[in-house]
Amino acid sequence: MDRNFSAVYPGSFDPPTNGHLDIITRASNLFPNIIVAVTDNVNKRHTFTLQERIDLLQKSTKHLKNVEILSFSGLLADYLKKINSFVLIRGLRALSDFEYEFQMALMNRKLNKKIETIFLTPDQSYTFLSSSMVKEIAMLGGSAKAFVPKCVEVELKKRFRNR
Ligand code: PNS
Repeated sequence: MDRNFSAVYPGSFDPPTNGHLDIITRASNLFPNIIVAVTDNVNKRHTFTLQERIDLLQKSTKHLKNVEILSFSGLLADYLKKINSFVLIRGLRALSDFEYEFQMALMNRKLNKKIETIFLTPDQSYTFLSSSMVKEIAMLGGSAKAFVPKCVEVELKKRFRNR
């Protein structure tokens, strides 16, 4: 087994929240290398471009030396094969996440039988937090300060300034 593999934390991160950061930090304490793999979720309409989401994640994780921000397109199962990894990290906030995450974990393993999905739970103060809720708050003139890294707060303000 390659002991230098990277564990992969995939997602759309539109935008990254403190909940994502909490999971990245926990993962970085567990594994020698973490790749945060940013992609477009075909089931969502994104507010931030792929490059903007990568930049925001880079700024928010620069203090974590074993974390790298990369992007991929196509199937996650194929991406893991390509980079020779077999560990997927996903955050599980509440029971409501479970069905989707369980389905995704099993489907990814069907597509690439080496894949193991590891679920991490964020601090309980983040269990209610989601990117879509943060965007809704910002869009309606509320403050996202408590929920996102500073650089994301700034971008959200710019994005929804004229609404
Ligand atoms: O942060 P999200 O939007 O919940 O992340 C979902 C994501 C991007 C990880 C998922 O949609 C994904 O893996 N997309 C890549 C395409 C793919 O492999 N689809 C089949 C998943 S079983």
